Amino acid sequence: MKCRRCKKQAVVALPGHNTAFCAECYLLFFKRQVEKAIKDHKLLTQKDKILVAISGGKDSLALAWQLANLGYDVTGLHIDLAIPGSSEQARELTTSFCKNFNIELKILEIKNEGLAIPEVKKRIRRPICSVCGQIKRYFFNKFALDHGFTVLATGHNLDDEVARLFSNTLRWDTAHLSDQGPLLPAENGFVRKVKPLYRLTEFETANLCYLVGIEYGFAPCPYSTGASFTYYKRLLEELEFKQPGRKLQFYEGFLNRGQKGFKLLEQKQGQELTPCPECGYPTSEELCGICRIKKVMEKI
Ligand code: AMP
Ligand code: FES
Ligand code: ZN
Repeated sequence: MKCRRCKKQAVVALPGHNTAFCAECYLLFFKRQVEKAIKDHKLLTQKDKILVAISGGKDSLALAWQLANLGYDVTGLHIDLAIPGSSEQARELTTSFCKNFNIELKILEIKNEGLAIPEVKKRIRRPICSVCGQIKRYFFNKFALDHGFTVLATGHNLDDEVARLFSNTLRWDTAHLSDQGPLLPAENGFVRKVKPLYRLTEFETANLCYLVGIEYGFAPCPYSTGASFTYYKRLLEELEFKQPGRKLQFYEGFLNRGQKGFKLLEQKQGQELTPCPECGYPTSEELCGICRIKKVMEKI
């Protein structure tokens, strides 16, 4: 197989794009997909002070590398979740990546907030993955606002986004459908959030790491049950195999033609948010979700 661009020997085939590339042209393809996402949705400018949430997995490492490579002002934030057998490796991989590629890194230790994930798991009677996600989102936002970042970037890729869209659609979850997408603009109490890798699949980010020489973590979180999202990803993979390019079309179609309707619907039903009296995070309840978890954790 030949590289579509330069006709040298190809090293990677991308059926979804009906093409194949050599290593050099693949890097160009990857860069252009990120540039297109940024341009189409006005995600970032060169003036932005970007906080990239880096987990130590392939997506967020590829994202930090690509944004730094495009000349953006990038700082990494890694949250050490204190999960034995998983957090040590994630932290190490993130630290050595940032050192190798000269990217500034901040580390937030969740145990210093009284929220070490294994302890939270013992005390809070909800699926730990969703509680952990809620805690991470809270601290991404808080850290960005407290330290003067203009935007938070995460490594969510096309597979993550399409699986989420599929799940939201199956449940007709209009609230989540209304704000799903690569850009969540800043609002009172919320920093702007962007997902510049939304056009790239898991395979494509892994391939970038391989070609650039970025070492990343493989091990899934030990608490992950491999629940519905993994199943949806598998179903969508099968669909993509039969109809290459369908995942990106489905997602782009939603962004261009579906999402506006859900936004209108939600504006009508919109819930008022007020600052949490303890920490200032926007909430529709008396106390925000994280302050409520902290209260449970403080009880002996
Ligand atoms: P996940 O929900 O684990 O698929 O992660 C989605 C995105 O959240 C990743 O691509 C990262 O940008 C970010 N993220 C997840 N876990 C962490 C972490 N422990 N520290 C920093 N960023 C994270
Ligand atoms: Fe948070 Fe698994 S990464 S529970
Ligand atoms: Zn609060």
